[in-house]
Amino acid sequence: MQIHILDHPLVEHKLTVLRDKNTPSNIFRELVSELVTLEAYEATRNLDVVDKQIETPIATMTGKHIASPRPMVVPILRAGLGMLDGMTKLLPTAEVGFLGMKRDEKTLDIITYANRLPEDLTGRQVFLLDPMLATGGTTVAATHYLAERGAKDITSINILAAPEGLKRVEETLDPSIDFKVVVCAVDDHLDEHGYIVPGLGDAGDRLYGLI
Ligand code: URA
Repeated sequence: MQIHILDHPLVEHKLTVLRDKNTPSNIFRELVSELVTLEAYEATRNLDVVDKQIETPIATMTGKHIASPRPMVVPILRAGLGMLDGMTKLLPTAEVGFLGMKRDEKTLDIITYANRLPEDLTGRQVFLLDPMLATGGTTVAATHYLAERGAKDITSINILAAPEGLKRVEETLDPSIDFKVVVCAVDDHLDEHGYIVPGLGDAGDRLYGLI
């Protein structure tokens, strides 16, 4: 598993505003979107491309073009939806699937309650969107789900991660899966309720105004 932590002053600035509990939902949504676009640039570094011959106004040349099958973007409902437009801004030709997974707040087990994905993901490069990699349970469940359907490589794009969650993903994921994490920051720890500390609170609630 590879972990890429974005190291950039713009990311640090936007993340600080995002974490601030006084930041309202409309600004929070905008910042999530902007951060994901910055992450997407790094996350798509190994996107498959093929040669494509074109004519410029001056000459014929061979450029590069995103290969088929199209990459797939999979937001994990609900909070991952807040990352979708930031991702598709950079990758507008991607196909979008949805995975509804949530954490049982008592047991912290992962429950899959919705799935809108092709059965066959053979050869697809998949980008998983979830703002918070906390316990790692959702990431492991979603990655196995996608790999079982044939996904070629899977990149998890998160805003924040907890060291405990990254460790669990590293230890639990089938090592044969080509898997990468792109994250804006790795925080200090998880609290006893499974929240990232210092974190930013409940990402879904902050995105959708339930605080
Ligand atoms: N999910 C969130 O929304 N926030 C956390 O801190 C952990 C999981």
